[in-house]
Amino acid sequence: MLRAVYPGSFDPVTYGHLNIVERSCRFVDELIIGVLKNRTKIPLFSVEERVGMLEEVTRDMPKVKIVPFEGLLVDFVGRMSAKLVIRGLRAVTDFEYELQMSQTNCKLSPGLETVFLTTDPEYAYLSSTTVKEVAAFRGDISRFVPEPVMERIQEKIRKKESVNNEQPY
Ligand code: PNS
Repeated sequence: MLRAVYPGSFDPVTYGHLNIVERSCRFVDELIIGVLKNRTKIPLFSVEERVGMLEEVTRDMPKVKIVPFEGLLVDFVGRMSAKLVIRGLRAVTDFEYELQMSQTNCKLSPGLETVFLTTDPEYAYLSSTTVKEVAAFRGDISRFVPEPVMERIQEKIRKKESVNNEQPY
């Protein structure tokens, strides 16, 4: 049985991520989406919100399980008894960081393999960061994220704006 971990921040999940999930499910028996509770980055969504959105949009994918994690990826992969890490590669600019990460993980946990799936050209430009930026300026993000995710982003941005507007100058 081949169990793989697809780790990331998923702040929030995009169609680009879902493309990697769907394609991974064609060759793994179980795919654990590991959602990083990152202490260094300040995410737009809490880890619980990110997990909730992922659960909603992968509801019809029986091989997929969503699990939050903290700390080192290699430890999480070990706890999940997984054999493989999956990452998406959008462009050459991703490559250096991904190579460094996979080699570090391999040193920390000898034998742990990372499989890279090149993103479909349709999603090569897409990142959670650009989605948040477009949404913040009221741009149309319906082609970037599934509808429930779009609604959450818009709601979050509305809330942030109303809080900021209430602050005295
Ligand atoms: O979606 P992201 O932010 O590109 O995902 C990055 C992630 C979560 C895969 C990476 O930051 C990670 O694995 N973090 C856990 C800490 C860790 O293991 N670091 C050592 C590897 S260099």
